[in-house]
Amino acid sequence: MNLTQSKKKLLPHLLSIIPVLLEHHITLLRKFDGTKPDIEDVSNRFRNNLVFLFNAVFLDEAGFALAKAETEEDTYQRGKYFGRKTWSTLHTILEINHHSRLKLLHYVLECLAHEPDHQVNGLIIKRLNELLSIRQKSYVVGYLTEKNEQMNHLHQQKIQVMGQMAAGMAHEIRNPLTSFQGFLQLMKQNIERGQTDPEAFLRYLNICLDEVKTVEGVVSNFLILARKNEDVENQLHPLELRTVLNRIHELTKHFVIEKDVLLQFHFDADSYWIRGVPSYIEQIALNLIKNAVDAVPIGGQVMVNTCQDPTGKSVTIQIIDNGCGISPKRMLHLFEPFYTTKEKGTGIGLSVCKKLVDEMGGTIELVSTENIGTCVEVKLQLEAVGQDKA
Ligand SMILES: Nc1ncnc2c1ncn2[C@@H]1O[C@H](COP(=O)(O)OP(=O)(O)OP(=O)(O)O)[C@@H](O)[C@H]1O
Ligand SMILES: [Mg+2]
Repeated sequence: MNLTQSKKKLLPHLLSIIPVLLEHHITLLRKFDGTKPDIEDVSNRFRNNLVFLFNAVFLDEAGFALAKAETEEDTYQRGKYFGRKTWSTLHTILEINHHSRLKLLHYVLECLAHEPDHQVNGLIIKRLNELLSIRQKSYVVGYLTEKNEQMNHLHQQKIQVMGQMAAGMAHEIRNPLTSFQGFLQLMKQNIERGQTDPEAFLRYLNICLDEVKTVEGVVSNFLILARKNEDVENQLHPLELRTVLNRIHELTKHFVIEKDVLLQFHFDADSYWIRGVPSYIEQIALNLIKNAVDAVPIGGQVMVNTCQDPTGKSVTIQIIDNGCGISPKRMLHLFEPFYTTKEKGTGIGLSVCKKLVDEMGGTIELVSTENIGTCVEVKLQLEAVGQDKA
């Protein structure tokens, strides 16, 4: 068996089938993948692989063993690379490879008609199959290894986030509990000493009630963050945004008076119908207005505006303040649960807002300049005109 002579005879035929195989491969990619492949990149890679494959089958034993090892490493890395990309599933890739392989063998068999030596033909087919199998196997191993690593990483992250949240929650609950315990002890001592001043007791009880309310607030917010709301679609109903915001205006009036803040609401239309949950909108607006009021100095300004998207598809609620603003470094942490710069903050307000906005299919963005102010924009989809309004 003289492989060098066979190579001279067969290689030009084998190389000549590359264009038709490439065309077939690209058709498959378009059909199965549904994405726009980078044709130039795919073509170069495909061509190089086939040139390598067709040359490898004519190598001596040692050379062929090296070619196998190279194929194994190369496709393993390729598999890992695709594992990092999310657009192709393993199933799709295997399907494409399967069809490409059948086509390849079909055309190679036609080429082998030019070689009368059956022993050579048998060896070429055997080696070709061997290389193609190595390609497939190491590709799958690389792909699954990458996916496994990703899953482990995600799992680690999940544990880390859970730990952070639990620590944050414990911290936020411990403070009010300590003060609650302190006042209960004080009342107990007073009773034991026969000092039962009803006015002082009422004061202590009011403090205890406030602390219980704080704990309750932390727990409810935490539950909003932790819950997996699978039934959210059923909870969304058509609602009129202005009505909800007017209610918020009434509610927020009292906490701006204390700080002498000018709080103004401007609506650019009489009504906006959106799909949402009124209590979500209330929570979002209250949290954001409270943040804005916290940020402004005495006599500062907070504006709540609505503006409709020019396409008429969405409405944006803007909460603008002329407060302290947020530094770019702090900006990175805003939506992390329990991130706060306030002495009495829990750092959960913005995380809750984001979760609720997400559940209603909207978006929330903050733009801020230090010492100038902050603008928060909550964008919500408008309900299509002509739909039922509850
Ligand atoms: N309008 C704003 N201007 C300046 N800083 C802001 C503004 N809104 C949010 N921040 C910053 O983002 C941080 C996180 O806000 P978030 O509402 O999540 O928590 P918090 O207000 O600190 O506590 P709470 O849980 O009581 O809302 C705040 O501590 C503050 O530093
Ligand atoms: Mg807040």
